[in-house]
Amino acid sequence: MTHPASKPLASRRPAAPLSGALRVPGDKSISHRALMFGALAVGETRITGLLEGEDVLRTAAAMQALGAEVVRGAAEWRVAGRGVGGLIEPADVLDMGNSGTAARLLAGILASHPFFSVMTGDASLRKRPMKRVTQPLSACGARFATREGGRLPMAIEGARDALPLDYVLPVASAQVKSAVLLCGLNAPGMTRVTEREATRDHSENMLRHFGAEVDVQVEGPGRIVTLRGQPELRAADVVVPGDPSSAAFAIVAALLVPGSKLRIEGVGLNPLRTGLFTSLREMGGSLVVENERIEGGEIVGDLVVSASALQAIDVPPGRAPSMIDEYPVLAVAAACATGTTRMRGLHELRVKESDRLEATAALLAVNGVVVEVDGDDLIVHGTGRPPQGGGLVQTLMDHRLAMSALVLGLASANPVRVDDASFIDTSFPGFVDLINRAVGGDVPALLAPWD
Ligand code: S3P
Repeated sequence: MTHPASKPLASRRPAAPLSGALRVPGDKSISHRALMFGALAVGETRITGLLEGEDVLRTAAAMQALGAEVVRGAAEWRVAGRGVGGLIEPADVLDMGNSGTAARLLAGILASHPFFSVMTGDASLRKRPMKRVTQPLSACGARFATREGGRLPMAIEGARDALPLDYVLPVASAQVKSAVLLCGLNAPGMTRVTEREATRDHSENMLRHFGAEVDVQVEGPGRIVTLRGQPELRAADVVVPGDPSSAAFAIVAALLVPGSKLRIEGVGLNPLRTGLFTSLREMGGSLVVENERIEGGEIVGDLVVSASALQAIDVPPGRAPSMIDEYPVLAVAAACATGTTRMRGLHELRVKESDRLEATAALLAVNGVVVEVDGDDLIVHGTGRPPQGGGLVQTLMDHRLAMSALVLGLASANPVRVDDASFIDTSFPGFVDLINRAVGGDVPALLAPWD
């Protein structure tokens, strides 16, 4: 499936600061999982706040192709599940579009269902490594045939009687952890995943919410997660919080545009997702949490962000799992800060929707920011003055690069253009309108370059 025509877009310094209150769309990680666990549960799961971005819609379509009933109601999504191990062979290829999370988590589900399936994705996803899931999942008895280098499309022959896995993650990846756990749902006995660094734990939380027995032992910076196989998952209602990874763009915009004060309501604050907030506060950013509460088993709060003068920091490698998707926009903040920011240990950025380490450096460099890539570190030299801007950014089918570049344009001396903003819809439909509304005034800050 080809993507709709590319959409060039430009952003420029707004005439007025960002102000008012807004909500960002639902959390992408939690949305994928709600649909998947709903499809594996007995009964009807109701999901409110589901992200209706293209990535998640791919998961919805895949679960439907596997026999679950997925319906978009007026106020909620409803999933009638088939029970653990109850999915059926899809009649056609499963196309996961741009979504690595959808593809990798689904590989885990398919590995322990005894039927044949084929999975593909768009040009970006077809470049991304799948061996990180096919290798551990093969040990359950499933067979995978992939393109050269473990790339999609791949064919999957699920195991008839899957064995439980005991796997030590070689990379800090919640996707790989979740794939192994999802496979373990339909294997007898205990499935165990050991991670040396804790990654987002939405799968563990939601498995419990659906009635599975999951034990988590904290071991220094890491965790050992154990799941008892073949539970009866029972349908459960899910309330999806606002995505902190989407809120990140509005937050950095409000910090950088002088005079701004923005309230972002209902944002997920799971501590394994909030590394960006820690980093921005260390830089001197004014980021206040109000009204902290638990909703649907996740911590949620309202964030009040005020424009701040930022100072450079050193971001340790151990923080990477808790802000892995936020480095491009942190780099934009660093470009506007005073001093040299070093972000360490970013090797995993190379296998995202694009090589985000090189692409983030290129995004800044083309806009006059002095930036270096040193091994797995990204070094940004900020002057404390607005970057020059004026560049045309290649977004490489990567939504987060596109949004980061547009945020940079709000804080730069000259407008910043992106070649294609269409992929923003994978995770943040409505981004352009939301920023334009927050800016207010008559002239939108984000607009097509010819307007
Ligand atoms: C995700 C995990 C992260 C993240 C992705 C969503 C998830 O990937 O980059 O956007 O929902 O599990 P890795 O776990 O591969 O780092």
